[in-house]
Amino acid sequence: MTTSGARTRVTGSAADFIPPKPTLPRLREAAAGCRGCHLWEHATQTVFGEGPRNAEVMLVGEQPGDQEDLQGHPFVGPSGRLLDEGLVAAGIDRRRVYVTNAVKHFKFVRVELTRRRLHKKPSAGEVRACHPWLEEEIRLVHPRVIVALGATAAQALLGPRFRVTEQRGKVVRSEWAEAVVATVHPSAVLRAPPEAREEARREFFADLGRVARLLGKSIARTERAEMTERAERIN
Ligand code: URA
Ligand code: SF4
Repeated sequence: MTTSGARTRVTGSAADFIPPKPTLPRLREAAAGCRGCHLWEHATQTVFGEGPRNAEVMLVGEQPGDQEDLQGHPFVGPSGRLLDEGLVAAGIDRRRVYVTNAVKHFKFVRVELTRRRLHKKPSAGEVRACHPWLEEEIRLVHPRVIVALGATAAQALLGPRFRVTEQRGKVVRSEWAEAVVATVHPSAVLRAPPEAREEARREFFADLGRVARLLGKSIARTERAEMTERAERIN
């Protein structure tokens, strides 16, 4: 297996593949041929974001998993099923949500002597190389709320010092949208030890519930209400 040489020319950034006058369909088509980093080589296909162009919410995961890589759609495997349950519980219609990932190709290691492919965390360089796709998606969809699922997505949007453990469920101000809310990745819930899983799931669903409430009202008003609540607790 080679990762260098003439066969595998990569440019170092997805920016080199952004088409002129981008629209979501044009971006999707261009992303299919992206060679911004090495991850395209071993993956089956680019898994681009999906959802309506006028979605109010954008969910950002880390990277496609095994099922997503095979099927070509984001969040259709086990994490996607848990996410769907969480959205239903929160009363958020997935058909009105734009779902994407910080990295558009599946990074994995093969488990010896099996056909299994194990997820491998993308490097900071790979996240950076792929970022132009996400930026274009955000620019075109222009969601009110962006939900970062897990540390990779949260740090891709909010910087390397952002800590999901400290800030989960809170409204974060940023250049990207009226509100960014970070929570855990659904796979973290699935991987939690059995005795902690129910609690992890409840907390994940509660964060999605906060997102739903945010969508129901003006975000500025929600922030004021939270500030009042904090002030009342202090007094
Ligand atoms: N995990 C992710 O982060 N994204 C997917 O699309 C699937 C699993
Ligand atoms: Fe391009 Fe992103 Fe795939 Fe790398 S992971 S090849 S930057 S689409």
